Amino acid sequence: MTDRYGVIGHPIAHSRSPIIHMLFARQTGEDISYEAFDIPPEALERELRRLVKEGLLGFNVTVPHKQAVAEMADSLVGQAKRARAVNTVTVTTDGSLVGDNTDGIGLVRDLRANLDIRLEDQLILVLGAGGATRGITPALLEAGPAQLTIANRRPERAEALAEEFASLGPVQACAFDDLPRQPFDLVINATSAGLHGETPPFPGSIIGPETVCYDLSYAMTETPFLAWAREHDCRHAHQGWGMLVEQAAESFLIWRGRRPETAPVLKQLR
Ligand code: ATR
Repeated sequence: MTDRYGVIGHPIAHSRSPIIHMLFARQTGEDISYEAFDIPPEALERELRRLVKEGLLGFNVTVPHKQAVAEMADSLVGQAKRARAVNTVTVTTDGSLVGDNTDGIGLVRDLRANLDIRLEDQLILVLGAGGATRGITPALLEAGPAQLTIANRRPERAEALAEEFASLGPVQACAFDDLPRQPFDLVINATSAGLHGETPPFPGSIIGPETVCYDLSYAMTETPFLAWAREHDCRHAHQGWGMLVEQAAESFLIWRGRRPETAPVLKQLR
């Protein structure tokens, strides 16, 4: 019998996860199906119960449910324990929900393995302090940066995250206006401003000749953040396609016990 998986989010129509997991299934010969479920926040608990009853063996979780599912899960494992945000759920035989998070591992893997970007001893800046930042911060700190700075429009949210993750490594917080007037080695956009076609007023001084810019968002054309980076003479800029495929491969590994090859899938998606 075909094993059922899926992704829950709101909205979800834009999700590439079904196509990515179908390509993984074809590549590995695993007999799975993967569907997208549009679930508004007010229906989350009820719909999750329905999916479990229907026999789903696991699901990915995307915006805006990652923190809510972390609270609902029966147990948190892996990076979800630290991040307190879930992007991968495994349903056990007794119907309990085990929450994990592969976003940070996916990002670090794309940066290191696919893009050959060094993280150890580097000055890393994360723009934004929402759910996306929560998901990636533990993995970034584990990668051993010299300093991780979280900057946000509402600095109190950045400060709360910096405080929460302080035991994992050197992390500090500030407002965009208070960013040091010096280039960072790596600047990661984790705001959702680009989804509304906006670019917040980041100071151009954060970009130097060797700065790498990485947008967690991805699009078929240039994202607003990468357009901003180009306008500020950034020479190394990447969209989040690689992270998308790498986090999916980590979820597939959790569910099926084997990690698909990501390079051919990334090539096909682009
Ligand atoms: P996600 O799960 O995608 O991170 P979120 O938790 O709603 O979503 O967080 C969105 C992030 O993008 C926040 O850091 C938000 O800044 P605030 O915390 O100050 O609200 C940021 N963001 C969204 N739109 C923005 C804009 N136009 N300018 C600056 N920051 C923006």
